[in-house]
Amino acid sequence: MSERDLILNIIDNNASLPYGTIAWEAPSNIALVKYWGKKPGQIPVNPSLSFSLQHCLTRTEVTFTEKRAKSKKPEIGYTFNNRPTKAFSTRIENYFHSILTEIPWVTELRLKINSYNTFPDSAGIASSASAFASLALVLAQYEYTLIEKAPDAAMFQRASHLARLGSGSAARSVYGGWASWGLAAHLPDASDEFAIPFTEVHPAFKGLNDAILIVSSEKKAVSSSKGHALMDTNPFKSMRITQAGNNHSKMLEILKNGDLMAFIELAENEAMTLHAMMMTSNPGYILLKPGSLPIIHAVRAFREKTGLPVGFTIDAGPNIHLLYFNEDKERIVPFIKNELIAFCEDSHWINDGIGQGPLLLNHTFQVE
Ligand code: PMV
Repeated sequence: MSERDLILNIIDNNASLPYGTIAWEAPSNIALVKYWGKKPGQIPVNPSLSFSLQHCLTRTEVTFTEKRAKSKKPEIGYTFNNRPTKAFSTRIENYFHSILTEIPWVTELRLKINSYNTFPDSAGIASSASAFASLALVLAQYEYTLIEKAPDAAMFQRASHLARLGSGSAARSVYGGWASWGLAAHLPDASDEFAIPFTEVHPAFKGLNDAILIVSSEKKAVSSSKGHALMDTNPFKSMRITQAGNNHSKMLEILKNGDLMAFIELAENEAMTLHAMMMTSNPGYILLKPGSLPIIHAVRAFREKTGLPVGFTIDAGPNIHLLYFNEDKERIVPFIKNELIAFCEDSHWINDGIGQGPLLLNHTFQVE
């Protein structure tokens, strides 16, 4: 019997569900090959590749207790930093509503959810990846508790699948190091349904840093979901899909062979293409801010001058993620402080890097 069937059996037999608390911490991630454009059911139009961050994390704790009312709806209470938040609560409620057939057991329980971010809300860093990854890990772990199974690779795959249904990029945040999401002919285990870890990575990438230069923390004028939708009518859509597939394959090769300069150049190419897709959508739009451009120019001039493998990637926003390696830290950090911080909002930057991945923080269940 499959794990799914075992779980459904427990519910069908009206067995009492366990009450307890589970908490997981999950990282935010930054994509080097960008997911941009999707098909119904949160299916990506192209494969993507990212690494998980070390310091930008969400911790989500869920307490599973007895339901108060007899209804076929789950009872969900959501707080952020122990305070109610209207906007994200609605998103979480919609999420549960949309995955009821995936996790039918949830209608039998009352869930008290509290999330906490280790990075400031105002940093303009997308927190949906770490938020949905940490929540999905809790849900997957609850299922494993139901069938009395210890966490294994399949549990993380299940969590990745559930996270994807909340936010596409969250699928990649259930792993540490590198993760790939989306079908790719050159990566046989890849799937549109969930991300997989990519581990054949040259040791040179262990020392990868991501200095997040906060150019603006303002709310984006065009959300990622609108941006994905605008790809449907983008005249360059099919070319972008082909390019993303090729870049994904090239990036995997680069990760294997450790060519740091090729890595930097490809990362920049992907970031520029992402923003080109926004500009060439209809209507076109620009998420970069005036401060983003001098940073881009300064980074390229510094690379030209020093020959160091330092470059940037950019998410769907104005902030610049400076990619560099540990052995160059002593030259890069002064460069950031002397030349780049001037373009950051309130001189704000976050010195992050590649992280180990999610962590189980609490798993406490009442003994029968
Ligand atoms: O997961 P979403 O729907 O917020 O989309 C994220 C898209 C990018 O961050 C721009 C790229 C990516 O692959 O993470």
